[in-house]
Amino acid sequence: MRVTTRKIAQMKRKSERIVMVTAYDAMSAGAAERAGIPMILVGDSLGQVVLGHDSTVPVSMDDMVSHAAAVARCAPSPLIVADLPFLSYQVSEEIALTNAARLLQEGGAQAVKLEGGVPVAATVKRLTDSGIAVMGHIGFTPQSVHQLGGYRVQGRTEDAAARLLEDALALQDAGAFAVVLELVPTEVAASVTERLSIPTIGIGAGPECDGQIQVFHDLLGLLPDFRPKHAGRYGDLAGVIDEALSRYADDVKGNKFPTEAESFSISTGSSQK
Ligand code: KIV
Repeated sequence: MRVTTRKIAQMKRKSERIVMVTAYDAMSAGAAERAGIPMILVGDSLGQVVLGHDSTVPVSMDDMVSHAAAVARCAPSPLIVADLPFLSYQVSEEIALTNAARLLQEGGAQAVKLEGGVPVAATVKRLTDSGIAVMGHIGFTPQSVHQLGGYRVQGRTEDAAARLLEDALALQDAGAFAVVLELVPTEVAASVTERLSIPTIGIGAGPECDGQIQVFHDLLGLLPDFRPKHAGRYGDLAGVIDEALSRYADDVKGNKFPTEAESFSISTGSSQK
């Protein structure tokens, strides 16, 4: 049975740590499913890690719907949250509602995530009043990277930390079921976590959030030239993949692949034997 937002709320009440990872396709969704991870984010970070853009800004609704649908097909157990991409929810509450509906109806997600605090609280309320589960995202908000002037830790001054708490409370009051805290000092994330009754999910926000999220590619070392400070390194798969592909290329060039083991003869009959 699929994990529900109710289960996620219960995890905070029971002080059970919430694990979340991004997934974008059949491979990453299948891996998260097999690892028993309870919540997946189909993140608009797919703009960088899958589509090769330099930020999340160019990601479209069609991109999100198509990747969410792949994840939903291949991960039947976790709660799937899909990102509303840049400018898909700021123009009007009606447009936000239509786009959130697409992620649920065409993309198969159970919840949507959007960036911002007080300024988007009315939109969050409109979505939650319409029966849509919403996850907030504050601190560093990647869709505003150009306005924020780069990838920077947020909430470092007393004023900024107070604004962050105000944003978190506004999202909670608007009905969000959880909130991502990205690139926030540990102490600030800890005090927001303590003040909220909904779970906080941290990325670069220290160990005291109720849960943690990591980008699949960062966690597994799939991008050799990109190692953000906040990323856990639980694999170096780029090295493994590069080595395997080089060996394959060498074997084809040296006429060592395929061998009889990977080949078929007329006499064995079946196409797969
Ligand atoms: O798109 C994404 O991967 C995210 C995480 C960084 C939280 O929003």
